[in-house]
Amino acid sequence: MRQIDVFDTTLRDGEQSPGVNLNTIEKLEVAKQLERLGVNIIEAGFPAASRGDLQAVKMIAETIKNSSVTGLARANEKDIDAAWEALKGSIEPRIHVFLATSPIHMTYKLKMSTDQVLETAVAAIKYAKKRFTHVQWSAEDACRSDKTFLVKIITEVINAGATVINLPDTVGYRAPEEYGALFRYIKEHVPNIDKVKLSAHTHDDLGLATANALAAIENGADQIEGTINAIGERAGNAGLEEIAVALHIRQDFYNASTRLKLDEIKRTSNLVSKLTGMIVPGNKAVVGNNAFAHESGIHQDGVLKERSTYEIITPELIGLKTNKLVLGKHSGRHAFKNKAEEMGFELGDSKLNEAFKAFKDLADRKKEVTDEDIFAILTDKQTEAKEIQLYDLRSLQVQYGMDNIPTATIAVVTPEGDYKQEAATGSGSVEAIYNTIEKLVDGPVTLLDYKINSVGGGRDALADSYVQIQYNDTASSGRGTAQDVLEASARAYLNAVNRVLSLKGIEKKEMAM
Ligand code: KIV
Ligand code: ZN
Repeated sequence: MRQIDVFDTTLRDGEQSPGVNLNTIEKLEVAKQLERLGVNIIEAGFPAASRGDLQAVKMIAETIKNSSVTGLARANEKDIDAAWEALKGSIEPRIHVFLATSPIHMTYKLKMSTDQVLETAVAAIKYAKKRFTHVQWSAEDACRSDKTFLVKIITEVINAGATVINLPDTVGYRAPEEYGALFRYIKEHVPNIDKVKLSAHTHDDLGLATANALAAIENGADQIEGTINAIGERAGNAGLEEIAVALHIRQDFYNASTRLKLDEIKRTSNLVSKLTGMIVPGNKAVVGNNAFAHESGIHQDGVLKERSTYEIITPELIGLKTNKLVLGKHSGRHAFKNKAEEMGFELGDSKLNEAFKAFKDLADRKKEVTDEDIFAILTDKQTEAKEIQLYDLRSLQVQYGMDNIPTATIAVVTPEGDYKQEAATGSGSVEAIYNTIEKLVDGPVTLLDYKINSVGGGRDALADSYVQIQYNDTASSGRGTAQDVLEASARAYLNAVNRVLSLKGIEKKEMAM
C-alpha cells in the first residue's frame, strides 16, 4: 500500500476564501485539530503577508509537534526571511516557495522571460536551502505551462535543493486524465525526479478538484494538498476529507492510504465551519449533514434490511456520533469536564468554569442540551481573546411590532471601562441593533454580509450569527452565539468591531517595541 502525505492548506489557501479572517487563537485551534486529525504538513499561513500572519505562523510552528508546519513565500529573499523568522522554532522547518511558470502569468503578472523565471526560482531555492531542510517549490499555474519548460525548471530547482515539487492546477482547469498525464510526463522526463516527492494541488472551478487529486495519486503523486470542507480561493480547493475517505473506501482501486485518523474528520469539519463561518452544504460529500440521511422509502427500506444497499460510508467512520442528548440541567461540573475532554477540548480551569456557567444557563432555558450546543459553547470559550480590553455587551432590548418602528436599546462597557447606553431605530430589528451599536463604538460601521444558522435542530436551538463589516476603514468578520437570534446578531457585530480593535492594539504594541 502506498502512503500518501497530506498537506493541509486550510489556514493559507482556505483562509483566502472571501470573507474568512481568523484571528491567531482561532488559527491555533484549527492547527491543533489538524494535528489531531493526523495531517503530515500544516501550511499555517503566508508570513510575509503581514505581521499578524507571521505571528500566527510562529505560534503554530512552536506549538505543533506531530505535524510539520510550513509557510508560503514568493521567490524572493524578503519572503524567505519572513518565513524563517516564523518557522525556525518548529520541529521540522519547512518552506513552500512558489513562482508562476505559465506564459499567461509570466507575461502579464510577472512580466518576466522564461530565463528570468528560471534564474529567480533557482536563486530562491538556493537561498531557502541555506536555512530550511525541507523546501517545497510550486510551479504556479503548472497546468497551463509549457511542459518542456516545466521539465527544465523542475530539473534545475531540484539541483538547487528542492525536496518537494508541487504541480498546482491553480485555476482548476484540467480534466483528471490530463492532470494525471502531467504527473506521468514529469516523472518520465525529469531526470532527477526520484530525489523529490511530487505533490498535487487542485482547485474546484470546474468541480474536478477531488477527481484531479485522485488522478494525480494514480499517476505517481506522493503528496496531496487541500483544505477541510474544500474551502479556498474562488470555488475552493480539494476537500482533504473527500480524498482521504475515497482512498479508504476504494483501497481496492487506489492501493494507497493516508495516515489521517478518519474518525476526527467530523470534528475538524465542524470546527473549521464554525470558526470560518463557512457553512457546509447539506449535500457536501463526506461531511454534509445529509451525507448519511436516507429520504426515499425505497432507500430507507433497503438500509433497514442491509445498510450497505445504499450506504458506502458509515457515519462512525468519520466520527459522527449518534448519541446526541448528553447532559442536562442536573449534570455537574465533573460530568461537564469529562464531556469537554471526550470532545477533544483542553481548557484551563478558569475557561472551563466560564464554559460550565454558560452550559448551566443554557440548560435552564433549553429542554435538551446536545453535543452541538456543548461544542458551540466550548469552542467560543476556547477561542475567546481576552488580552485586550474590548466592548462588552451588557444588555440588549428590542421593541418590535408589525405597526411600530423597531427600536433597540443597548448597553456596553467600553474599552476604557465606561458604562454606555444608546438607543436607535431601524427598518427591522437587526438594523435597529446595528444602528445602535454604531452609535456606541465611535466610528462608522458598514455591514457587508450577514448570516444566521441554527446550531443543530429544534425550535429552541442556539443561533450562530456571522457578519462581515467595515469598521473605521478596516474589514473584519465576527461571530456570535446565543439562544436568541437578535442577541447572536448583536454579539457577532460587536465581535467584528472588537477584532478590528484587537488588530489595532497588536499593531500598536508591535510599533512600540
Ligand atoms: O493554487 C496555487 O497555485 C497555489 C500556489 C501558491 C501553490 O495556491
Ligand atoms: Zn491554491
